[in-house]
Amino acid sequence: MKQIIVAIDGYSSCGKSTIAKQLAQYAGYRYIDTGAMYRAVALNAIRKGVMYSGKATDIEGILDFTHIDFAIQPDGTQHVTLNGEDVEKQIRTLEVGNAASQIAVIPEVRRFLVAQQQQMGKQGGIVMDGRDIGTVVFPQAELKLFLTASPEVRAERRYKELIEKGEQPVMADVLADVNDRDYRDTHRDESPLRQAEDAVVVDNSCMTREEQMQHIYRIFDERCK
Ligand code: DC
Repeated sequence: MKQIIVAIDGYSSCGKSTIAKQLAQYAGYRYIDTGAMYRAVALNAIRKGVMYSGKATDIEGILDFTHIDFAIQPDGTQHVTLNGEDVEKQIRTLEVGNAASQIAVIPEVRRFLVAQQQQMGKQGGIVMDGRDIGTVVFPQAELKLFLTASPEVRAERRYKELIEKGEQPVMADVLADVNDRDYRDTHRDESPLRQAEDAVVVDNSCMTREEQMQHIYRIFDERCK
């Protein structure tokens, strides 16, 4: 069977990464979480004290010192690394998520990461998720999925995740954050989140995980023929 490129895009907290990971496992493909790459750049910008300077050139200045990779764990999952350090846990906070959405509007940051993503996926046999995978990174992807769910459903999921991580979120803040991120992701000049014309839309507001995966596996099997 041919090894295709699967591009998964959609709003934040739509379950993209869970779906992408499960599909990659089903297909025996490599999974790349591009959001983790934006988050790792943001974490480095925070650590180097340039995140909140308000100057894009300060962020651009650290890119040459920002080496991002993925380390495969014994259980098959992947952890993002920043200059060789496993930062999988550190990048999953609200602060880093917000910072990632801010640095993602900088064209130089996007060029820097898109080039690496294209390199990682060029052989096929990959499931990549993000915001611009089907439109910019791999416009030639054989399968494009666009995931969506209502902001309230997504805020609820995000809230539960943060509680599980030991944070103490306020629901109204989480919903405001989801709405802010949606706005920034869809309104930025550079590669805004939008649905590729040939993408299959999956609205999972009212679907169980299992229903959704069975639906996606069927589409995938069809495309691989
Ligand atoms: O998917 P996520 O929440 O981990 O992504 C973090 C931020 O990175 C999100 O606000 C949008 C940005 N992002 C992007 O602009 N392009 C991508 N391909 C992936 C993420």
